[in-house]
Amino acid sequence: MKFLALNGSPHGAKGNTEQVLQAFLEGAREVGAETEVVYLKDKTIKHCLGCFTCWTKTPGVCVHKDDMPALLEKMRAADVMVYATPLYVFTMSGLMKDFVDRIIPLAQPYIIQRGEHYIHPPRYAPASDASGKVVLISNSGYPEPLHFSGLVETFRRWADSPGEELVGAICCAGGALLQSEALRPSFAWYMDATKRAGREVVEQGRVSPETQQVLDQPLISNPAAYVDMVNAHWQSQGVELFDILGEFQPEAQVPATAGVPLPPPQSMATMRDLVSGMAYSFNPQAAGDLEAVIQFQVTGEEAGRYYLDIAQGHCTAFAGEHPEPKLTLITPAEVWMAISRGEMNGATALMTGKYSVKGDIGLLMRLGQLFKKE
Ligand SMILES: Cc1cc2nc3c(=O)[nH]c(=O)nc-3n(C[C@H](O)[C@H](O)[C@H](O)COP(=O)(O)O)c2cc1C
Repeated sequence: MKFLALNGSPHGAKGNTEQVLQAFLEGAREVGAETEVVYLKDKTIKHCLGCFTCWTKTPGVCVHKDDMPALLEKMRAADVMVYATPLYVFTMSGLMKDFVDRIIPLAQPYIIQRGEHYIHPPRYAPASDASGKVVLISNSGYPEPLHFSGLVETFRRWADSPGEELVGAICCAGGALLQSEALRPSFAWYMDATKRAGREVVEQGRVSPETQQVLDQPLISNPAAYVDMVNAHWQSQGVELFDILGEFQPEAQVPATAGVPLPPPQSMATMRDLVSGMAYSFNPQAAGDLEAVIQFQVTGEEAGRYYLDIAQGHCTAFAGEHPEPKLTLITPAEVWMAISRGEMNGATALMTGKYSVKGDIGLLMRLGQLFKKE
């Protein structure tokens, strides 16, 4: 199965889009796919003139003399087209848009009815029975997956042509974090799912709903925590925040959050997974407008530092130490794990010194409501 990937980022192979694209293609190659990446930034692709010469005087051939005819040939030979673009103003980059506009020589000018819709029929027969699969890959600077809605809908509508289908959309909200070496282990879950998606397209013809569900999650579930990290980055670059709107409090917007976000739990067998799992079992209704950090100082064989940051109805788990936790739990891993499994009574364990706490005891009392048990 032949995959042709187009990278529409001006950053090309050094960009964030590439991180996701390469993981996806690696997965596809693992199960026998042939893959090729074209970096659109290195190609000359002129804007479509809208003259329709490619539909009238020279059917299938554009008036422009540039790199596009060779790319259309590659496209016609591919089974899977992978469009990889950074999110630019809620849609694809200009590089990618120029490319997709220039695909019209592959269609015929007539409009025909197909099912409930009208379409331009293709000019050429498909390369093989396996062809016509479209995969969208994107990443964004904002942390909210909602920002991809227009882009995904564009590709869904566009791929709704004879013999074509959007078989997966990997839209990574907050993709800039993927370039950070320090954060790499934290996002292994996303990259693993991306590789799995590549394998699934080869083996099953599409990304499975289970994998798609993982890929639809932002890298960091708490947008406020993500924004803190991004703003801290800009601050470290010496960029000033001007209070044009009279609404910002720069100091309050850039707290010294030093932690590394934890990936979703693989099991509940380690303290790291257990703290990560707590963020996923968070009950926003019970939290209301609570803003608090709960620090874990884990002792014993599996010693470590983790914290849960609760803000604006979200809870995010981090590895590391927070400068201002509201509540600190100092506990051997096995004690907290036994409590969370219901094998040990939390209050008794505290009274008998099996673990200790510092800070807001009222918050300790609320843990049962804040984190639902499975
Ligand atoms: C012109 C421009 C427009 C952008 N528009 C958006 C946007 O609408 N939403 C968003 O979340 N990020 C936006 N971004 C941020 C990029 O999506 C983000 O930096 C991405 O990680 C870049 O990927 P790359 O390194 O592969 O180019 C924009 C960036 C630029 C330069």
